[in-house]
Amino acid sequence: MAGSINRRAVLTGTLISAIGYLAGCASGSSQQARRPLVGFTPVPRTAADGRSIVIADEYEYQTFIPWGEPLSAAAPAWSWPPSAEAQLQQVGIGHDGMAYFPFAGDGRHGLLVINHEYGNNWHVLGTAMPATREQVLASQHAHGVSVIEIRETHGVWEVVPDSTFSRRIHANTGMIMSGPVTGHALVTNSANNPISGTLNNCANGRTPWNTYLTCEENFNFYFGSSSAFHPSEQQQRYDLHAGGSFYGWYQFDPRFDLADPEFANEANRFGWVVEIDPADPAATPVKRTALGRLKHEGAEVVEGRDGHIVVYMGDDQRFEFIYKFVSADNWRRMHDAGISPLDEGTLYAARFNDDGAGEWLPLSLGNPALAEAFSDQADILVHARLAATLAGATPMDRPEWISVGPDGDVYCTLTNNTRREQTDAANPMAPNPNGHIIRWRDEDDHLGIRFTWDHFLICDDVYKTEDSLGSPDGLWADPDGRLLICTDGDQYEGKPDQLMVADTRTGTLARLLVGVAGCEITGLTTTPDRRTLFVNVQHPGNGNPQITSFPAADDGKTVPRDCTLVVRRKDGGVVGS
Ligand code: FEO
Ligand code: CA
Ligand code: CA
Ligand code: CA
Repeated sequence: MAGSINRRAVLTGTLISAIGYLAGCASGSSQQARRPLVGFTPVPRTAADGRSIVIADEYEYQTFIPWGEPLSAAAPAWSWPPSAEAQLQQVGIGHDGMAYFPFAGDGRHGLLVINHEYGNNWHVLGTAMPATREQVLASQHAHGVSVIEIRETHGVWEVVPDSTFSRRIHANTGMIMSGPVTGHALVTNSANNPISGTLNNCANGRTPWNTYLTCEENFNFYFGSSSAFHPSEQQQRYDLHAGGSFYGWYQFDPRFDLADPEFANEANRFGWVVEIDPADPAATPVKRTALGRLKHEGAEVVEGRDGHIVVYMGDDQRFEFIYKFVSADNWRRMHDAGISPLDEGTLYAARFNDDGAGEWLPLSLGNPALAEAFSDQADILVHARLAATLAGATPMDRPEWISVGPDGDVYCTLTNNTRREQTDAANPMAPNPNGHIIRWRDEDDHLGIRFTWDHFLICDDVYKTEDSLGSPDGLWADPDGRLLICTDGDQYEGKPDQLMVADTRTGTLARLLVGVAGCEITGLTTTPDRRTLFVNVQHPGNGNPQITSFPAADDGKTVPRDCTLVVRRKDGGVVGS
């Protein structure tokens, strides 16, 4: 990525710096550069009516693992509203980030690990706020993560009914905390309760050693207060306040009561990236504190120079930051020494300068900007947002997913920011209701502290065109140079959220599918041959059967269920092509 390209994009707000970009990478793959990456007929912008999924003519889909699907033959069949006991044995709600881990063989049998971000009380319980401890448990069990053994038989994907791998991880599952914050006073309660639960599991990552990373985003929504509570400056920065509970769990579970002195530090145990080993059903999930406490969107893992592990992460809130973590050493050497590569290393926050360059700012006591304000590294990590502010990171327009392309370019969706009043070069719209996608490349094979950046897409530039999209969120840069972009937010003329495919070399956009009314499209993973894509329909109808009963036929009363779509090209080609 030449500096001149960056400069042009920065100075003009160019939609996609495609021509220069093509020139820059064509020498390595001239064959590929000539062949269009996207060959399907785009779904017309106006085709969707919100009542059914609309997919490109060359494609087909199967609905799969809806909320409440039994994980085994012994598990209770779906009925609404689910009991706490049933939900423990069923797929959770709020399908979001996910990753497919195939077994050895043809790739048609493996483990799908999927996040359950969100399920509002009306949708899960049929009531605005829980009235019993049992209802709180049902809500808690609907959240978290599912590990599901799946296979394809005669072209149809199914849940393996007698799996020894399938399991639910939820808001009360036992966890281990690892890394610099472990055992620190900031995560210790006088109740002496064990570390447990994962919440608001949004996007995800996967490691080269075949584990899954689930990311805790809006954990503040689960905490409330039974009596007067005055949040500290640190708690306010994470939106922990008396009236903040979206779920009302605190009324029946003191762990989520901010005013209960026995659980004063419980909220510091959330906001982490959690590592899950899908292949070992007995393995306890691990909160990897070296990656910082944020409202984590995702954790994109790449192997950088000399086998260092690099994790790119967004913190999804208006004016929050983009982060990266670099492991202390080659990950295989660390494993051999019995150390997790996610436990020792350096956390950085990004500063995007106006000239198309940028810098990663270390969040450690060695940074003079932080030395006075924090007592130790745990203090910095628990309050990573405050540390990044002091370090001088650039406040962004809600960083969501990050994905690294085959040539090392890093893409991040900045979904929107309706409250921005002052622009900077990296966030050039004020307000920014439709979002943008920023792109950078780090020096030194992902390890460098300097990078160059440009804009891949300013959504406002296409919002009122046939290629319209707004509020980009889920993102996957595939190995061929496509960018699969999911949306979560307002689409032009009230159309539903959608999945678009961009050709990063030509800048063209094509609409692959459109969801039903009220849903978000999110979560992207494929089989190893990339001929089968799993993508999620989250909160169809926002849970309201008067909007949709998806995936059931609309009848105005059957409660809609979040579910996965299994998407294939009818000709067996690579998805996105
Ligand atoms: Fe869970 Fe930022 O979306
Ligand atoms: Ca969501
Ligand atoms: Ca998201
Ligand atoms: Ca979003």
